[in-house]
Amino acid sequence: MKQRVFVTRKIPDEGLRMIAERFDTTVWPSDSPPSVDEIVQNAKDCEGLVTLLSDSIDSDVISKLPKLKVIAQYAVGYDNIDVSLATDRKIAVTNTPGVLTETTADLAWTLIMAAARRIVEADRYVREGKWNVAWGPKLLLGSDIYGATLGIIGMGRIGSAVARRAFGFNMKVLYQTRSVNEYTKEIDSSGKGTRVDLHNLLKESDIITLHIPLSSETHHLLGEEEFNLMKHGSIIVNTSRGAVIDEEALFKALESGHLGAAGLDVFKQEPLQKNSPLLKLPNLVLAPHIGSASTKTRAIMAKMCAENLIAVLNGERPPNLVNPEVFE
Ligand code: DGY
Repeated sequence: MKQRVFVTRKIPDEGLRMIAERFDTTVWPSDSPPSVDEIVQNAKDCEGLVTLLSDSIDSDVISKLPKLKVIAQYAVGYDNIDVSLATDRKIAVTNTPGVLTETTADLAWTLIMAAARRIVEADRYVREGKWNVAWGPKLLLGSDIYGATLGIIGMGRIGSAVARRAFGFNMKVLYQTRSVNEYTKEIDSSGKGTRVDLHNLLKESDIITLHIPLSSETHHLLGEEEFNLMKHGSIIVNTSRGAVIDEEALFKALESGHLGAAGLDVFKQEPLQKNSPLLKLPNLVLAPHIGSASTKTRAIMAKMCAENLIAVLNGERPPNLVNPEVFE
């Protein structure tokens, strides 16, 4: 009898086909996430589960899936999964690292440039018929990127890809990281970036971008106190996870004009509530969590996710295992 797999959303065909060819596969038909009960209902007899970051795979869900061998996350981040319980239950958890690095770095830069040069405000201004004077000496003045100081919080794969782009803009790069790794070594040996502590990074940067996973240590890493340390008029961009920033504190810092602008791709609650005060801020550029959203990258992520799932269900160690203890 074929093993059973529940896929919580229609991921790109490149991966879905690989799964459906091998396993008895059920795909959640809607674009909205299944509820916890719906996940349990659909996956209770499954050996494999393909998840998205918007699926809460907590202890309640895991404990109700007795046959589960693998949770294959279609994302690099996996803060929505109770990995510790999965590990205790010998369930492999896999993710899709590496393949979305450059695409996400591109998006971080899109937000940096859009926020600094007020491009969304400018677009609205033209469309709304407000462009009535040919050239305004003080119209939509923004901040320079070239030659500015960029503070990168988190120097891993994506942080270093963002740094490489910054060198092309002749920026001074400051970074903060928990540990020395191959990416910090690359930046250090280039002589173009300097490791500093968070306090100095906040005080000295013109633009700050976050590239850290969400954990109990990084939850609300930046709040009122940290925003107060930042330069007047500085810019902040977040493409990691919403909850690493205290959104209420960010709202106040942007509304008061202490921070010049921001670009957010991620939020504490997704989708962003329709009545969120953030929507009122003209100096905030918003995106709906599309860091890895290029056609090519999403197809590769789907393939990688399928390869991870297939490996575990074939009794092999998957290429991208989050909890290696399961295979020890
Ligand atoms: C991830 O992979 O964690 C991103 O947030 C979505 O691609």
